[in-house]
Amino acid sequence: NKAHHHEFIIQATKVKRLCETHNSITVNGMFPGPQLVINNGDTLVVKVINRARYNVTIHWHGVRQMRTGWADGPEFVTQCPIRPGSSYTYRFTIQGQEGTLWWHAHSSWLRATVYGSLLVLPPAGSSYPFPTPHRNVPLLLGEWWDANPVDVLRESIRTGAAPNISDAYTIDGQPGDLYKCSSQDTTIVPINVGETILLRVINSALNQPLFFTVANHKFTVVGADASYLKPFTTNVIVLGPGQTTDVLITGDQPPNRYYMAARAYQSAQNVPFGNTTTTAILQYKSAPCCIGGAKKGTSIKPIMPLLPAYNDTNTVTRFSQSFKSLRKAEVPTELDENLFITIGLGLNNCPKNFRSRRCQGLNGTRFTASMNNVSFALPSNYSLLQAHHHNIPGVFTTDFPAKPPVKFDYTGSNISRSLYQPDRGTKLYKLKYGSRVQIVLQDTGIVTPENHPIHLHGYDFYIVAEGFGNFNPKKDIRKFNLEDPPLRNTVGVPVNGWAVIRFVADNPGVWIMHCHLDAHISWGLAMAFLVENGKGLLETIEEPPADLPVC
Ligand code: C2O
Repeated sequence: NKAHHHEFIIQATKVKRLCETHNSITVNGMFPGPQLVINNGDTLVVKVINRARYNVTIHWHGVRQMRTGWADGPEFVTQCPIRPGSSYTYRFTIQGQEGTLWWHAHSSWLRATVYGSLLVLPPAGSSYPFPTPHRNVPLLLGEWWDANPVDVLRESIRTGAAPNISDAYTIDGQPGDLYKCSSQDTTIVPINVGETILLRVINSALNQPLFFTVANHKFTVVGADASYLKPFTTNVIVLGPGQTTDVLITGDQPPNRYYMAARAYQSAQNVPFGNTTTTAILQYKSAPCCIGGAKKGTSIKPIMPLLPAYNDTNTVTRFSQSFKSLRKAEVPTELDENLFITIGLGLNNCPKNFRSRRCQGLNGTRFTASMNNVSFALPSNYSLLQAHHHNIPGVFTTDFPAKPPVKFDYTGSNISRSLYQPDRGTKLYKLKYGSRVQIVLQDTGIVTPENHPIHLHGYDFYIVAEGFGNFNPKKDIRKFNLEDPPLRNTVGVPVNGWAVIRFVADNPGVWIMHCHLDAHISWGLAMAFLVENGKGLLETIEEPPADLPVC
């Protein structure tokens, strides 16, 4: 097994989009950042050198980090930030994961421009569980602001309002043909007649679940979040931020130019801005327009696909219900822990000393968000993992509640007013090493019902069931799939509904679980697990690296 060494230089770089030039934070001057390709079983060693004026950390989204929690990356959770002028080397091994993962900054809103793909191929000498594709094509879906994303977040924290929505969706950093000043640089994916390519679609947008489709072509879905699936075909896929989906697409249509397009499913602000669509172009090399290279014939209009409406939850449900893991799943059937966690927004009172006496959230409040009515607050003097490792008291407590404080009607009209105002806290939930865990994630309709992409660090989990309304343990248990449920690191909890996940707590460390809509994590829609070290060598987390940043 190989070790791959990389250097990531975090720096300000001029990036021109939508007719304007911005000084964006990038890795090695690239936007999106470098693509990493490795084989299952290989080790990555990435030295991150911070030459920007912001604190930064890098998270390897979906990498299990078995016993290497120090390399996970979320700021103030597993490490202190890498300060301007300093560096930190992330070192970890990919074990038993194959497919598409990605990496992104995990500090403020820097991930708007600091992200890239991480492709994990089968171990050298072995093959995919499907016919070998002619090519791998990662596609990063994203969001672009005509502003500094760090300032967008700061402004919303200052006023209590929702952060400004982005100015464009992007594919590989490009808004594409339908946006101003963007046609020239539209991403082009070349294909030959008869060729099959493996599209590795990643939703790296900050706040937006997205539909993705290609005109006149069918997808065969073969994997998601670096786990293989029983193949199924579909015209459209949907991804919440954080999620990845691998699809095969074959050049079986008349040689021409076809749009690949992504558009909003819902929105963080719950407004129907589905009229904004980002595009790339699937271009047949032998199309009459295009012989002689990608740039030739760019005046020929590509064929436009149909995309679902922004509120088409039926399509989302049909899609997620098609997910079955390729092999028989190892779902825990007995449980040691059974948690019920509500996820939703809230409205906190404006602080007394607030300048204008009114915050700009609903009715003069400020937006907040919580799990089980606890709005998660990150520490600032230690990371949680460092505090745990060195036995520093006072940084966190371990009283995260296993159930919401009051039982209520989560999705109906009788939502308890007491749950509109969560308390802030740095509350962890202790899991014994090796325990078998079930979590019911329940959306609340507080402020607005939404599909929340809930991401757990350090683990993959089985999604054994999902549904709408209030979870009913007696009735809904009949829907549980313990045979071949999908294994993922991020679950889109249905709008006004619930999802049930299961996993075995076999990775010691501190692991944050949060909504991958950055507006929501910024408001506290998170909690963290402390998976306690066992006594044996394998149950123990590795020693912290010598260059681990201190706060
Ligand atoms: Cu991809 Cu904690 O995030």
